[in-house]
Amino acid sequence: MVQIEESGFYTSDAFLDTDSVLYWKAYVEKMNADNQFRDSTIGKQGHKNVKIRSDKIFWLPDFSGLTQDIGHWLDDLRAALKNHFRMPADEIESHFSIYPVGASYGKHIDNASGVNNRLFTFIFYLNPSWKPGDGGELVLFDPENLDNKLKQIEPRSGTFVLFRSDLFHHEVLKAHKPRYTFTGWMRRHARV
Ligand code: OGA
Ligand code: NI
Repeated sequence: MVQIEESGFYTSDAFLDTDSVLYWKAYVEKMNADNQFRDSTIGKQGHKNVKIRSDKIFWLPDFSGLTQDIGHWLDDLRAALKNHFRMPADEIESHFSIYPVGASYGKHIDNASGVNNRLFTFIFYLNPSWKPGDGGELVLFDPENLDNKLKQIEPRSGTFVLFRSDLFHHEVLKAHKPRYTFTGWMRRHARV
């Protein structure tokens, strides 16, 4: 909590145990084989723009049922963030994402001051064999100076990232190997 309080972001490697990573990776592969993944879109109208964003996503229909232990843990974290920051982080939306080889996600912000209800972004990386050169790193930019790269995070298995959705521009560098994530947002209720 101290780290996110001071810098607005938190990152930890080896956060999720190997068994959970393999479990979720297998789940992603099964859902992909079942054709559950769709091309991602950007913006309110849901435009498809492969130059900016070229991953495929699968929205979790029911967060609490499907995510088991991670779900409980994330919900506790949501409640703690809500209390600590006094922000109305009342629900969680989340999706699995697959970046095929060559895919990337250009520099963007998840919530450009009040455009949507997202307050905190979280990401789990599900890539057991990631190694340097495989690409797909996440770059966080300095909120005070958008040209300044604050941090570059390797999408290694088990790494967890959390940041304020309204503060941090970020970018996903081109993936040279398929790249899997579980990503979501702690957010306000959609209708308030
Ligand atoms: C997003 C996003 C980052 C990542 O889905 O909005 O920025 O590392 N994802 O996958
Ligand atoms: Ni994003």
